[in-house]
Parts: sequence; structure tokens; C-alpha cells
Amino acid sequence: MSVRALAEQFPAAALLQGERVRDMAKLVVEGLHKLNGEAVIHGAKNSALPILAATILSGDVSEISNCPRLSDVAATQAILRHLGCRVEEGDGRVLVDSSGMCRSDIPDSLMREMRSSIVFLGAIAARTGQAQLSFPGGCELGPRPINLHLAALRRLGLEIEEERGRLNCRARGRLRGTAITLEQPSVGATENILMASATAQGTTVIVNAAREPEIVDLCAYLNACGARITGAGEGTVVIEGVDRLTGCRHEVIPDRIETVTYMAATAVTGGRVRLLRTDPDNIASVIPAFEEAGCRVEGTGEGSGSGGSLILEAPARLNRVKSVLTMPYPGFPTDAQAPIMAMTCTASGTSLFVETIFDSRYRHVDELSRMGARIKVEGRVAVVEGVERLSGAPVECTDLRGGAALVIAALAAEGETEIGELRHLDRGYEGLEAGLSGLGAAICRIGG
Ligand code: EPZ
Repeated sequence: MSVRALAEQFPAAALLQGERVRDMAKLVVEGLHKLNGEAVIHGAKNSALPILAATILSGDVSEISNCPRLSDVAATQAILRHLGCRVEEGDGRVLVDSSGMCRSDIPDSLMREMRSSIVFLGAIAARTGQAQLSFPGGCELGPRPINLHLAALRRLGLEIEEERGRLNCRARGRLRGTAITLEQPSVGATENILMASATAQGTTVIVNAAREPEIVDLCAYLNACGARITGAGEGTVVIEGVDRLTGCRHEVIPDRIETVTYMAATAVTGGRVRLLRTDPDNIASVIPAFEEAGCRVEGTGEGSGSGGSLILEAPARLNRVKSVLTMPYPGFPTDAQAPIMAMTCTASGTSLFVETIFDSRYRHVDELSRMGARIKVEGRVAVVEGVERLSGAPVECTDLRGGAALVIAALAAEGETEIGELRHLDRGYEGLEAGLSGLGAAICRIGG
């Protein structure tokens, strides 16, 4: 049945069954269309979320531009409104006036909607002297502990009681700067420490801080608000506490994982793409994998945020990628593992993946196997034996980047693939099907 015929028939079926059409939404992809053309990269989800949380620190007005329209960003805005902030948004800009902030709690429902809401903890505590929120709990990637967050915030003077799944936090007076060594460079813990210490009494030194570009972007926002942070992007970051912050205007950096996703989608079809408003610098550790697979990658405007661009040209059939080991930045990003794995499923040869960051980040493998991929997983190791062709099949997103992997595989599959559970994909990709259609993919969203 053609994509169009399915699209015509599907909503009726959903309505007849009285199902919540939203959950029935699916992407239908007809594979084997070569991607060619230009696509524009959006602002980084993993930068926008902590920066929006940080807007409460100043009690002033901040305007955040290049903010992606995603369900995770919407959930963050809902938390800001719950806390009493005024939030307005339009064409990629989010204005937050946190002067009216009158609460210090995050309801369970909002915590469950987005586990990374934990990154509000440091900012709420610094602004109000207290915070009440629930444990974020695990997610599709396995347990997501927050022990490093809590230990660091306790060292800054926040008293935290954990009971019945809730965190009740209170600061006796102003938080106090101190030295904090992270046993592993946690992105979220680094972000919580940055936000809690920006207005603390005295100086905080973070040793073994996360070095991701999103950390650098958060520090840039905080410094523009009057914070005194040095060493952003390095292993040791120094935050000299200031008495108060003001609001500011800030443009979010480009999304490096969306960039990799479009690169892999193009590469797997043997196409050519020019990505605009991206920063090739931020994916330097992934480019070698594309080159090893036989792609030509050319970046311009490195380091200029959304001023840069990148061209990728792929061979008719990719070569295998010998080995991919995910590491904290500047190593190969764990978020790129699933998209790159999908790309290697039809490559010639065998590719090896080692996932060192999360406990269970191979949930997309079973879905890829339904499409004929030959992948063997042993613990943190996955071995992909490239096949000539994948076959379209009904599959379901297991998590955000696993969902991206299914879209990439569908583009290289013979026939039609139907992808369900799109709520995972909508958390982190704005208009993915529109962007891919613009490059020549036969992809449409039906039923929702
Ligand atoms: C951020 O998650 C990103 N999310 C993730 O992107 C990304 O995969 C991850 O960093 C690693 O780069 C956001 O920025 C919203 P971590 P985060 O704290 O902060 C362990 C995506 O697809 N750990 O750096 O939660 C943890 O279990 C998402 O966009 C502790 O043990 O990641 C993990 O194994 C997925 N204790 C490792 O550290 C803690 O207190 C890295 O986690 C905190 C973390």
C-alpha cells in the first residue's frame, strides 16, 4: 500500500477505534531515495533546557533565541510557568520573566514528563533557598542516578532529605562556594553546580567537570547575566560567586546531535547534503567515522556557533566503521551511537560499538533487527555485520536517539517502514520529517 493510500485510510481507522489519535501517530517511510540538498540545523535541545532553567536565577527578563520547538522545551516552559515565571514564545525565541517566581516545587507529573528537570534543582535552591521535587527515576537508557548532583549540592550547603521518592531541600542562608571533584564528568551534575554556585558566597572550583559544548553555552549565558565563570569547556571550572545576576539575550548553539543525524541520514542513502546554521567544531570526534565510512566532509565557519555550515558527500555504499567507543566530550558522543549504528547496518564489512556511558543504550537493536539488520550485543559491545539491503517493517521508537536510528535505517530499506511511539522522537527533533522530505526522502507523518 502506498504512503498516500495509508495516510488517507489511517486516520479513519484510528477515529473508528476511538483511539487517542496522538499516540497513533506514525512515520511512514519509503526507502531507497537518495537525499540531496540543504537543511537548516536547529538550536541544541541539551543547551536550551539548562539555559531556560538558569533564567530563574536573575529574577529578571531573559530572551533565549534559536530555541528548538520540542516537547522537552515545552515541558521546561511548563515548569517555569508553574514556578510563577512569565513565559512567552514565538519563532524560536523564548522570553522568560522570572521576577514573579513564587514557588520552589516541581510537581511529580512534570518531573515524570522529563527526567532532565533535575537540572532545575540548583537554580531553584539558589534563587529561593529551598526546593521540593521528586526523584527523576530511570528512563529508557537505564537507571539515571543523581548521586553526583546531590553530593555536590550538599557540599555547597544545601540540606537535602530524600524520602518517599521526594527531595526536600533547604539552604541555611546563602549557598557557599567550595571545591567539588566529580568522580565522573556528569553533564547534568556540572550544570547543577554551575547554576547553584553562580550566586553563592565565595568561589567554587569544579574538578573533572563535563566539557560538552552545551556546558560552554550555559556558562556563556550565565556570564552574560553577570556571573564570573572561567574554564568553561575544560576539566576544571572556577565560579566566583556574585551577589546577583541580571537577565540577558542569548542565542542557543546549534544541535550537534541533530547535525550528526542528518549526516547519517544522507550518508546511508549515498547522497549529498549541506547543513546550515551548524558548528562543525562540535562534531569533530564524529567526523572520522563518516570519513572511514567513505564520506567526504567539509566544514566551514568552525567555532562560529550557528554561523557555520558543513557539506557531506557519500559513496554509493558505505564502508564499515571499524570501532566506535562512546566517551565524555571531546570523545565520541553517546548520543551519536544509535544514528551511526543505523548507518553501518548496510555498510560493507563489520562495525564494532562500545557504549561506555549508559547501561542500556542498545534498545534500538531489536527494532533494527526487525528490518533485517545483523547486530549482536554482548553487554556494552555491539557488533554490526553490514548487509546489502534492509527491508521496511513496522517498528517502534524505544528512546530519542534510538528513534532517529530507525528513521535512518528506514531511508536505506527496501519498501515501506512504519515507525510508531513518536513521542520519543518529538522530544528532541523539530520537524525531522519536513527536513528529510526537503532533502528528497519519501516520509510522512500520519494519524496524529
Ligand atoms: C546529558 O544527560 C544529556 N541530556 C544526554 O542526552 C547525554 O546522553 C548525556 O548528558 C551524556 O552526554 C541532557 O543534556 C538533557 P550524565 P545527563 O549526567 O546529564 C552517570 C539525549 O539523547 N551519572 O553526563 O543525564 C549516568 O548514569 C540525552 O539528548 C551518575 O552515575 O548525563 C551516566 O551513566 C540522552 N550519577 C553517566 O553518568 C549522577 O549523579 C553520564 O550521565 C549523574 C550521572
